[in-house]
Amino acid sequence: MTVEETLKSVIRDVPDFPKPGIIFKDITPIMLNPKVSEEILDHLVELYKDQHIDIIAGIESRGFLFGFPLAIRLGVPFVLIRKKGKLPYNKISHDYELEYGTSTIEMHVDAVKPGQRVLIHDDLLATGGSAAAAAHLIRKCGGEIAGFNFLVGLDFLEGKTKLKEFSNNIINLAT
Ligand code: PRP
Ligand code: MG
Repeated sequence: MTVEETLKSVIRDVPDFPKPGIIFKDITPIMLNPKVSEEILDHLVELYKDQHIDIIAGIESRGFLFGFPLAIRLGVPFVLIRKKGKLPYNKISHDYELEYGTSTIEMHVDAVKPGQRVLIHDDLLATGGSAAAAAHLIRKCGGEIAGFNFLVGLDFLEGKTKLKEFSNNIINLAT
């Protein structure tokens, strides 16, 4: 099986969560299966090991699950991009629009150094709002966006379109 087929076989579609009409992509079965988790990680390492990634930024919370192990395997630092009010030290923030209202994400000021090539990782690309906000945050620190990686991308929401202003290197392992 390809990694995409493996992912599709384990990710669970949950209808009407969190709202009627939405089909939720539940990735928790991946973590129940260490073999599958390792296969995904091995695949990510192959994809990125020669891309000169200096640092990986994971988006809270599900972006931490594979972002941090991938950083360890690539031998690069991992940065936590968190929802407002969670980080203890000096931080920078970025506000962005949601379907209803706004949200804020934050990162420690010393996490990314100017000129560093940052790979942004998250579990899921939907509208691209979270990943675009993460890219803005990294740019505020002078970081370069080396690319975006997602386990799953919901193509019909055209999140990739929103991210192209930052990088054309946008990879999702499954759709
Ligand atoms: C989900 C998902 C992505 C984001 C994708 O996270 O894990 O981070 O939404 O949506 P977007 O492309 O439209 O921004 P959520 O905010 O539900 O939080 P969680 O990861 O902490 O569960
Ligand atoms: Mg998330």
